[in-house]
Amino acid sequence: MKLHEALNMDINRVNREIENIVKFDPDLPRSSIVAKSVLELVRSGGKRLRPVMVLVGARFGSKSLGRKQWQLAAAAEFIHAASLIHDDVIDRSDLRRGQPAMHLKTGVSSAVHIGNYMSLRIVELLSQYSSEQERYVHDLSSLASTQLCIGEYQQMTHAFNYDQTLEEYLEKSRNKTAQLMATCLRTGALSSGCDTHTADLLYEFGECLGLHFQIQDDLKDFTQDAATLGKPAGSDLRHGQVTLPVMYALQEPSLSPMIRSIGPDSSETDIEQVLEAIRQCGALKKTEEFSRTFLDRAQAIIQQLSSYPAHEDLKVLLKYFSAA
Ligand code: FPP
Ligand code: MG
Repeated sequence: MKLHEALNMDINRVNREIENIVKFDPDLPRSSIVAKSVLELVRSGGKRLRPVMVLVGARFGSKSLGRKQWQLAAAAEFIHAASLIHDDVIDRSDLRRGQPAMHLKTGVSSAVHIGNYMSLRIVELLSQYSSEQERYVHDLSSLASTQLCIGEYQQMTHAFNYDQTLEEYLEKSRNKTAQLMATCLRTGALSSGCDTHTADLLYEFGECLGLHFQIQDDLKDFTQDAATLGKPAGSDLRHGQVTLPVMYALQEPSLSPMIRSIGPDSSETDIEQVLEAIRQCGALKKTEEFSRTFLDRAQAIIQQLSSYPAHEDLKVLLKYFSAA
């Protein structure tokens, strides 16, 4: 069963609202390359995890779901999709969801402009929610994108930094992945009149799921093959990403010099050798165990929210993320 089905959520309504962001932009001709490219992108699918999180958050408030919540859900997907266009340019990645990345279809310059348009269109769209009581909308419309950029910048500056600390790794992961998910839940909750204490707990829950999600993504670089990943296995290591499995492997005195020797000009043979050494040394198991601690924290938050009927939805989310 798909996530939105398990949550009894009308995903087509989300998709319509996402398309409306482009279709009802008075400044953008429908026949333009930008409009066509964005529509093609959003129609190409995706799990819609972030919109789902906005809507789950909204189920914690007293108000029933209205246009605002659907727009916030759609905005979350738009921000995420925009960031992936830029990410694929930065990572020189040609495939996204098994399809050619935007920059492959439009060229790099157009892709960057399209990503810029999408992220700023959200600021414009959500500026309609600008009363003092709606200040929380800014967290989604602008702060979330700023933090995505900071996270990406932190990742770039730590490339090939084998002395990166756990704290730095987690901060980068929080910024680039977890905070958007967390913001989705909190923004959805506050939009439907939920109290701030509960909304903050939902933020923490989203952050735990997001950190687990990112660590699992980092693990996949070692555990999945190129066909499943849609990119060569070991891409992170090749690009200098010192992810958690690498950090655990670095604690092995016999492996550390070999890992530290990997740089931008390393040969495929050297990279393959280090990948295999990391797979064999127990680092993946330690990473998995650390990742699971975030699920335990998420579980504890569900218990704190058990007086809300919507806590059942958090259980569904937790199960989904545990299996991902
Ligand atoms: C995927 O990471 C990328 C992100 C989670 C965030 C990317 C953010 C930016 C490029 C900042 C620009 C932001 C905006 C709003 C325009 P990954 O490369 O680890 O995962 P992947 O395997 O899915 O590519
Ligand atoms: Mg990438």
